Amino acid sequence: MQAINIPAFTPDPSTLLPTTVPLPTPKPDQCLVRVTHCSPQHADILHAQGKHQNNNAKKGWCHPPFILGYDFAGVVEAVPSDGASDAFKKGDRVFGAGIGAFAEFVCVPQRQMRKIPSDLSAETACAMSGQAVSYAAVVNIAKVEAGETVLVSGASGGLGNVCCMVAKAKGAKVIALAGDKDKAAAMEKDMDVDLVLIMEGDWIDKVVEFTNGQGVEVCLDNTGMVNDAIRCLAYFGRIVVLGFAARKGVMEEVKMNKLLLKSVTIMGYRFGESGRRFPQTLEEIWEGYLGMLRTGEMKAMIYGKYEGLKDVGRALGDLHERKVYGKIVVKVVDEGERSKL
Ligand SMILES: NC(=O)c1ccc[n+]([C@@H]2O[C@H](COP(=O)([O-])OP(=O)(O)OC[C@H]3O[C@@H](n4cnc5c(N)ncnc54)[C@H](OP(=O)(O)O)[C@@H]3O)[C@@H](O)[C@H]2O)c1
Repeated sequence: MQAINIPAFTPDPSTLLPTTVPLPTPKPDQCLVRVTHCSPQHADILHAQGKHQNNNAKKGWCHPPFILGYDFAGVVEAVPSDGASDAFKKGDRVFGAGIGAFAEFVCVPQRQMRKIPSDLSAETACAMSGQAVSYAAVVNIAKVEAGETVLVSGASGGLGNVCCMVAKAKGAKVIALAGDKDKAAAMEKDMDVDLVLIMEGDWIDKVVEFTNGQGVEVCLDNTGMVNDAIRCLAYFGRIVVLGFAARKGVMEEVKMNKLLLKSVTIMGYRFGESGRRFPQTLEEIWEGYLGMLRTGEMKAMIYGKYEGLKDVGRALGDLHERKVYGKIVVKVVDEGERSKL
């Protein structure tokens, strides 16, 4: 099959091209899925470069040679051989996350995938497959309430723009942070938020001004800006640390007295691990998240046009250059195309 194979870590994932590799063999608890769509994200760049915690030689599971990719939509080609569950059958339309998804076929443990609701397209399901984390961050972790003001960093990104939509659906006012003028203009046009701010100059004063001097109740931090978030917060404000997209691997240091002075709560949230530890809560999160998609409270924001695995490198380059707002979906093959197996 064709796949984006990583024989060794690479500094520039935009140069990656598909090559021919052997068809993967599913483990007894895995489905073999024919990939119709895949969605590159920030973590894929780090995986390819060897800079992600999953690349850690002792604790990680992403070591060369490996096939890149995570979020996918596709069709079940073969069900698990362990017979432990009949959750899926051949031909089911599915989406989820499985390492090796930038390929024509991927092997995925059953707990990492779910059926695509019949009223969703595979493209939408793929675009939204990685952002249940944002729903959970708003609803389960920050517990955002109607009338609160929520600040979202990296709001143009996959996680960020879903954080904005969920917070709006919960009745909050949302301030979205953008990296530059062009993105800010696009976000103002396409996103239902109350204020878009570019992170330059006196942007923190503008956040505080917007809240009549009180500060925001919640910051959902996707980029690693806790010190700035504390300055934007109201007394008793909450910060959820979701990611470090802007930190280039260098973590912030935070002075504890700043937390005390404003009675700040900072919460980290690791979606995958939380789901493994609390599967019942994970199911409730997915139900709530997909529910919002179906009612139209949330919609996929799809950026650009990418077709074929040959476009994965370009997609990773565009992500790296911060051109993207919303999610890239690469159409690997038409949904209706017959399996070559
Ligand atoms: N906690 C969890 O369980 C969990 C799950 C999945 C992902 N994550 C992490 O969450 C973070 C966001 O993920 P994502 O998928 O939303 O990423 P993404 O789609 O690439 O979005 C990240 C956003 O951050 C902003 N940004 C600011 N400085 C940046 C920089 N130097 N390089 C790249 N982007 C920069 C960009 O917006 P502007 O250009 O407009 O500033 C970009 O849109 C990542 O660190 C990811 O690893 C965490």
